[in-house]
Amino acid sequence: MEFIIQVKRQESPNSPPYLQSFIVEDDGEAAIAAVLEELNSRTPLVDADGKTAEPIFWECSCLQRKCGACAMRINGAPKLACSQFLRDFPKRRITLEPLAKFPIVSDLIVDRSVLFKHCKEAGLWLEDKASLPERRHEALYQSARCLMCGCCLEVCPNFVCGEDFCGAALSVNAYRIFEQSGHGEHRKEMAAEYRKRYWNGCSQSLSCHEVCPVKLPVEDLLVRSNAIAVWNR
Ligand code: SF4
Ligand code: SF4
Ligand code: FES
Repeated sequence: MEFIIQVKRQESPNSPPYLQSFIVEDDGEAAIAAVLEELNSRTPLVDADGKTAEPIFWECSCLQRKCGACAMRINGAPKLACSQFLRDFPKRRITLEPLAKFPIVSDLIVDRSVLFKHCKEAGLWLEDKASLPERRHEALYQSARCLMCGCCLEVCPNFVCGEDFCGAALSVNAYRIFEQSGHGEHRKEMAAEYRKRYWNGCSQSLSCHEVCPVKLPVEDLLVRSNAIAVWNR
């Protein structure tokens, strides 16, 4: 079967973006990540108009939904390229674009370092010995599964890169630290930062819950974080 793969290209942050199409023959079983690898292995890489193209810049690491590096927009929705397959797109036309809420590095690569900056500035670390109540292990595990992929921020109406609010990506990870930390000064500081970086800006649309590519129980983790950080429960 023939698939048309349209890729949004942008050589560098200041260069003009454009769309470039490629033709791929496949039985539909290949993941988008495998398609990108196959395209980049072509020498030369030639686009659908017969013009020589530069290799496509994109990121991956685990190729099994564990690292979040391959997050991109696939036909407009934020997804992981390693867990979407050609057969998922019966019209056989697939558009790949970088996540739109983060600064562009090149082609499908964006700079998501702002997520880690928020966690650091929110003081999300333990200063006391961790407390690990057994009945919370499942929720703590779910929190630790977050890939920091940014898909939840891509659909969040209130996230703007560079502003104070960091949406579900912050709250989901904050739960793990709040749950395990003691009740000292550091926790009070974290709670104040949590209000600034999550609670004050969240309008509870929960599109973050729907879009999470690893099906984290995002809503449950938001509620747990709020209960500790805002309501002191
Ligand atoms: S909560 Fe889900 S969508 Fe958001 S960063 Fe974590 S893994 Fe990605
Ligand atoms: S509930 Fe809505 S506003 Fe709050 S973090 Fe999720 S997507 Fe953003
Ligand atoms: S390459 Fe790790 S999640 Fe896709």
